[in-house]
Formats: sequence, structure tokens, C-alpha cells
Amino acid sequence: MKALVVGGGGREHAIAWKLARSARVQTVFVAPGNGGTAADPALHNVPITDLAELADFAAAEGVALTVVGPEAPLAAGIVDLFRARGLRIFGPTQAAARLESSKAFAKDFMQRHGIPTALYAAFTSAAQAHAHVDEHGAPIVVKADGLAAGKGVVVAATAAEAHAAIDDMLGANTLGVQHAGGVARVVIEEFLDGEEASFIVVSDGRDALPLATSQDHKRVGDGDTGPNTGGMGAYSPAPIVTPEVHARVMREIVHPAIAGMARDGTPFTGFLYAGLMIDTQGRPRVVEFNARLGDPETQPILMRMKSDLFELLMHACDGTLDKADLQWDRRVALGVVMAASGYPGRPRTGDLVTGVPADSDELMVFHAGTALHDGRLVSSGGRVLCVTALGDSARVAQQRAYDGVGRIHLDGAVWRRDIGHRAIRPR
Ligand code: AMP
Ligand code: GLY
Repeated sequence: MKALVVGGGGREHAIAWKLARSARVQTVFVAPGNGGTAADPALHNVPITDLAELADFAAAEGVALTVVGPEAPLAAGIVDLFRARGLRIFGPTQAAARLESSKAFAKDFMQRHGIPTALYAAFTSAAQAHAHVDEHGAPIVVKADGLAAGKGVVVAATAAEAHAAIDDMLGANTLGVQHAGGVARVVIEEFLDGEEASFIVVSDGRDALPLATSQDHKRVGDGDTGPNTGGMGAYSPAPIVTPEVHARVMREIVHPAIAGMARDGTPFTGFLYAGLMIDTQGRPRVVEFNARLGDPETQPILMRMKSDLFELLMHACDGTLDKADLQWDRRVALGVVMAASGYPGRPRTGDLVTGVPADSDELMVFHAGTALHDGRLVSSGGRVLCVTALGDSARVAQQRAYDGVGRIHLDGAVWRRDIGHRAIRPR
């Protein structure tokens, strides 16, 4: 059978790589893909990003399953479009994707369904937003309502920072947020203390099957300093999600969310990603929902998946998730993102990427912002590679991933030196 992966980042490279390992899959198309998917003989890049043209392509090729990586095509309604044409696609409808595309929608939804999350208020008026900050003080969190590739959030340590973020988000918009419904709006939230984890489930609209847990590193600098990014590295599993915490997340967050979406008439089919903050008592609260897999969490998660991703997603599309088989490698997987000089602000592109180690059972280099030009690999985006390794412990996986990073040359590359630090006990 043929599969199509929509997107061109590291997450999509990992999805395509994993789908291609299924005995039932002959061909995997990636649209538009990147330099890594171009170089892999098992994968075929398709230079299409227009949604209607993608549906035409899937129909003409007889694609059995389309999997959507990023949020933008989901928010634009790719799933509705494919379904209307009788094409099997895994992802949420436009209405269900609002759990990610509109923070205000997600917050109202959680409040309505009793899902634990930070207190919040939404504003379109800068004056009212400033008054709210004056009233509540810092630390406080200011978020742009819309899609911002993980960058539209300011965790303000001082009131001055919060005021500046409001002025930017409701004014100059230097972060380049795509406003939900075309209206500039900010959500101001209570600051949650604790440790974060990414908890992602596969849902067919009724049942939810949890994937292995993971933890991302959102800040650009070592020790979680500097601005937020799309994610600088991740590992799986996340030790903070103990069996007790896992059970609470399923009971207090995942089941109410899936049941709530169904009850509201917008059943959630797809990957539901709950970004969690877990406090010292092991109480999980939702920082955000995403309507897709995480990037870079997907890279380590899929390296640990022993069962067949294609089979799993076929079951999820056909409403038979209860028949799916899901098995995990007991080892730890850890991925380090190598980003371009200037990331996350203005990444430089067009640099040569050399020395990329060959893929093995223990080391995979997933590509994100790369392109193949005349057989040469060059950088073409902010996050360039995610060097991902398996190991018997977090320390071994970390060592192996950094050995891989050390062999790669990319002028001015930026990467964190401490991916996985929370999973590694001091010696
Ligand atoms: P988001 O895009 O909503 O996931 O936010 C990006 C990052 O900002 C999160 O991963 C957290 O590290 C941080 N963050 C967001 N909301 C809060 C909050 N209410 N309290 C503390 N940190 C937060
Ligand atoms: N790594 C965070 C995200 O994909 O949203």
C-alpha cells in the first residue's frame, strides 16, 4: 500500500521512516519533505503544499493512508477536505483542531469539561490586558492566540516583561503569530510551577491509546534559559510520568477530553498531545493541547515504537483502535536538535551540512530544515537536524546522540549540551 505524509520537518521524516518499515507499505510519499527524505531511497518527496492538489495527488496515486504532521494544514481543514473526497486521512477535523489553533477555544473547552489547567483570561484590548497584569503581578504568562510554531508564549518573570509582550502581541507582532480568526488576541495565564512532560495519545474519536511519554526542551539555552523555541531536543520515556501520574493523566485529562469533544459534536480523531505541567504532588495540569504529534518528541518516540505505525493508524482511521497492537522498546531514546545560526530569531540558511553519520539501529539522524542541492546537503530552516539515539539508559542514549552531533559539521550550528538532564541522576 501507499502512504502519504504531509509536512517537511523532523517529525515528518520520522513518521515517514517508521511507516516505510511496515510490511504492508510499499511506497511512502512526503509532501514536501526535506533533504533527508529526498536522500532516503524508501521515501519519495512530492513538491506539493496546496491542500486540494494534495487530495488530487492522493486520489490519483491510490494512497491508502495520509498522515498529517504539522498544525497548519489541520487548522486549514485538510482532514475535512480529504474525507469529503473519500480519502483515508489521520488527523483532526478543522473544528477539532481548534484545541490547538485557538488557545481561547481550548481554555473554554477545558473549563467546560473540568480538565485541570491554569486560570486564564483572554483580551483583545491592550488596556484591559495591561490592567489584568497590574492586578495579578508576576510571574505571569502571556500568549498570543493563534499559531506561532511554539514561539508565541512569554513566561514573564516581571510585570514589565508581561506589559512588553502584550504590546508586541497586540501591536507590532514581531513573533509573526497567525491570529485565530484574523483577530489579534492575547491569553494571560496563571504561572504553573512544576516539571513538563509531553503526553500524546492516538484517538479514533472514541478510544484513546497512549504513546510512550516524552519530555521536550523548549528553551534555546542550556539549563532552560533564553527564548522559547519549537523544541531543542527530547527524550522518551519521561521519568516524571510515574505509573500513578500516567493513570491520573488518562483519567483526569485524556478521557474527559476525548469524551468532551465527542459530546460537543466535534469528535477528536488524530494525535492529541497534552503538554503537561506536573507539580511536586504529582498533579498534572494541561499547559496546552496540540492536535498533532510533537516535534522533536516524535523522533525519540518513534525510535522506541516496536509495533507497526501504519497498522495502528489504519485502525485509528477505521474506528477499530481496540484491535491495535502497541509495543515499545524498553530502552531510552534521546534526540538532540541541531539548529541553524540565529535560531530561533532569524536562522541563516544555505550552509553546507556534512559528516552526517549513517543510520543504524541505534542512531538515526532525522532531517528538518535541509535540502538536497545537486547532491549536496544544505540547511534550509531553523531546526536543521535531530540526532536521535537509543541506549540502555538516558546517559548512554545521550552519549550516543552527542557522539553523532560531534561528527556533523554545520557552520554556526546551535545545539543544547544538556538534553535529557532531568532523566540523568548526578553521578
Ligand atoms: P505553550 O505554547 O502554551 O506550550 O507554551 C510554551 C511553553 O511556555 C510551555 O512549554 C511552558 O514551558 C511555558 N508555559 C506556558 N504556559 C505556562 C504556564 N501557565 N505556566 C508556566 N509555564 C508555562
Ligand atoms: N515540541 C513541542 C511541540 O511540538 O509543540
